[in-house]
Amino acid sequence: MRAEILSEPVLRDCRYTSAFVKNTIRGMGPARAPFTCDAWNSPEVLAKISEVAGIDLIPAMDYEIAAINISVNGQTVAIKKDNAPDDDGLPVFAWHHDSYPFVCVAMLSDCTGMTGGETALKTASGEIMKVRGPAMGTAVVMQGRYIEHQALKALGGRERISMITSFRPKSPFVKNESVLTGVRPISNVSELYTQYTGYRIETLQERFRAFQKQELRRDQANRPFDPAAAKKFLTEQKEFLESTIAELLE
Ligand SMILES: [Fe+2]
Repeated sequence: MRAEILSEPVLRDCRYTSAFVKNTIRGMGPARAPFTCDAWNSPEVLAKISEVAGIDLIPAMDYEIAAINISVNGQTVAIKKDNAPDDDGLPVFAWHHDSYPFVCVAMLSDCTGMTGGETALKTASGEIMKVRGPAMGTAVVMQGRYIEHQALKALGGRERISMITSFRPKSPFVKNESVLTGVRPISNVSELYTQYTGYRIETLQERFRAFQKQELRRDQANRPFDPAAAKKFLTEQKEFLESTIAELLE
């Protein structure tokens, strides 16, 4: 994974900066990062992540394998030059919700001797809970779309490379409130929109196909049409479609 991230094509084509995220590497894709993409799609890895999450998950989209943040001495590599002093405990990212239901953060650096680097979470009661960041070769799974969180600065290490991969429910029948708010400014928008509308349409196709199959069986069994159930189903699909349209900013 490190070899792919630090490869020439990735460093040339995949670096993005927004007001919110400084110098992140995204959208490596299977051509530039075949091992990384295979790893996040492997049934064994997905089974483990799904077990932790308590629901079967798959990567949100190919484009979200993966986002990588590289920092040196607690500063992202992009802002390293300006020699700003380190402020202990200051957040690397502001408080936020993620764009996708679940996230897996894997650590690709040896964090021995580093301090900080925790994820701060806001609990339902408003208390702040600090969760230790992953150590090298381990990962943290979080429901980032629903838990407000921020990454705290890590200090005392030479380099710190973390990899963030976003997930959605595998089943098309499960609620999926993914948005593109956080990722739109740090993406190739054409690729992002292609994959986003692609899987949203596939989700709708599978839902409509299953509903119609069920309707045929209902009719064959001579059970009456249920207007309330049909309206509920159709309204949910309308809302799913409307939320998809709302993400496609021109
Ligand atoms: Fe996040």
